[in-house]
Amino acid sequence: MLHANNSIDPVENAFARDVVAGLSADVKTLPSRWLYDERGSALFEEITRQDEYYLTRAETSILRERQSDIADFVESRAILIEYGAGAGVKTELVLAGLRDPYVPIDIADAFLAETSKRIASRFPSLWVRPIERNFLDVFEVPFDGSGGCRTGFFPGSTMGNLNTIEAKTLLAQMGRHLGDDGRAIIGVDLQKNVDTLLRAYDDSAGVTAAFNLNLLERINTELGGDFRLEQFEHAARWNEIEKAVEMHLVSLCDQRVTLCGRTFNFRTSETIHTESSRKYTAESFERLARSGGWRVAEAWQDADGLFGLFGLTRY
Ligand code: AVJ
Repeated sequence: MLHANNSIDPVENAFARDVVAGLSADVKTLPSRWLYDERGSALFEEITRQDEYYLTRAETSILRERQSDIADFVESRAILIEYGAGAGVKTELVLAGLRDPYVPIDIADAFLAETSKRIASRFPSLWVRPIERNFLDVFEVPFDGSGGCRTGFFPGSTMGNLNTIEAKTLLAQMGRHLGDDGRAIIGVDLQKNVDTLLRAYDDSAGVTAAFNLNLLERINTELGGDFRLEQFEHAARWNEIEKAVEMHLVSLCDQRVTLCGRTFNFRTSETIHTESSRKYTAESFERLARSGGWRVAEAWQDADGLFGLFGLTRY
């Protein structure tokens, strides 16, 4: 809502609320889900085509090479619930051979509509029932009457963007959605040498940098901010304790930024932490899965051992 002072009200606007809270903290952070406006989503698609960003290629190669194993695992009788829709060709590989309905869940309704339309045109007889929600909220997936066994699909290493508590909470919610005989297929990036990891998040063409800096542009446009983008720089850093690649926006000078009628000070080299991408081993992922009520029944990897796709059953 626009006020007399021309600022967006942080009480009513979730984006404004998160930005004001995140920039007011001692260690400045912004939730990574705000990276995905229209331009951010397009830039992410471009990231997946960069040489250094191996994740999407590795995961897609597993889905292709192990397609029949995966079809056996979901037993060609499942309702597919996808957490964070818009995985494109990955979904189509899992959907081949699955039964109605396909239930994509995503917070961005434009993304969701596009995914639903594309899948519906590729699989004309498939019943598509999108749910527009943040998959971290608590909600139900309505019973559909067909009584089929449910499969959850959570590809793309999006799990890696969640902290331990969020990941556990989502796994437990997936357990409720999918039921006692439910199964899940989850893709996560694997730990490997730090150089390879950092290059994936700081590509030489600068696409990841543009993706990260776009968040400041979005704050300027949507919240009336006055960030000067040339005074911030993208950085990818390895956090050894969290086993995560972090994206930061580094302030290149002492400066002050105004938005929503508030002022925020930045010291030279101070950063805004905009995303963590956690990297797992087979063991650390198994521990996480167990803590959320799931057992690892199948573990698939690409030929280079870069990425892991896990088939889970309930404990
Ligand atoms: C799609 C969220 C998993 O963390 O690797 C890519 C997002 N961020 N480059 C990831 C991302 C920077 C990506 N996820």
